[in-house]
Amino acid sequence: MINGPTTVAIFMDGNRRWAKAHGLSVKEGHTAGKDVFKRFIDFYPRIRKQWGTKHYIFYAFSTENWNRSAEEVAALMGIFDKAFDEFREHLDDVIAADLRIVFIGQRDVLSASLQKKMAALERDTAQCSGTLALAISYGGRADIVQAAQSLAEEGVEISEASIGKRLWTRNLPEVDLIIRPGGERRLSNFLLWNSAYSELFFTDTLWPDFGEKELEKIFEDYASRERRRGK
Ligand code: IPE
Ligand code: MG
Repeated sequence: MINGPTTVAIFMDGNRRWAKAHGLSVKEGHTAGKDVFKRFIDFYPRIRKQWGTKHYIFYAFSTENWNRSAEEVAALMGIFDKAFDEFREHLDDVIAADLRIVFIGQRDVLSASLQKKMAALERDTAQCSGTLALAISYGGRADIVQAAQSLAEEGVEISEASIGKRLWTRNLPEVDLIIRPGGERRLSNFLLWNSAYSELFFTDTLWPDFGEKELEKIFEDYASRERRRGK
């Protein structure tokens, strides 16, 4: 096994530009973005064996994405619904891959039907040791705020540890590597607390075209970096 990252976070960015480049609708672009998960579940065990990478966090929908048109937000919610149904249909493959599905973000703003499907997927994959975390209605600032609110309500002493234990990401290890496909070079409110010592990698590949080969290239780059964490 090569010294790869244990925990990786990935932006799902570039769906609309991908759609435009292929003469397709925005909805078809987001659908192509969803379909990357079919390939992911297939290659996850191979990559895990080769690189030791267990946990992934995907940035699917940010707190700011609610500001897109009502039509696009509705299309995205429909695609999440479809994605959850597809995970359910292929749950045997998900479990065989040893992937626990979890969700991070604001849940109560999502429809009751989506929330139900999310809770059921989490429950039925809870025994798995790797993670496929989907960040939906997620914002790094919103996460820090909700953790701070919990601390205030509980009257607990404020420390890095007490904040970390209340974040949506509390059950995930430190994020080793953040990958942003889609050409932008910014963090866009993703994992603000967790990215303190993450390695960052940016690629122009649009999310629907992202796959195993490129991920391995990025892991090779990661393995060559020296992580000093301020020392
Ligand atoms: C990412 O693709 C998907 C979501 C934010 C939900 P975009 O929709 O941002 O596509 P581009 O970046 O405009 O191409
Ligand atoms: Mg974008």
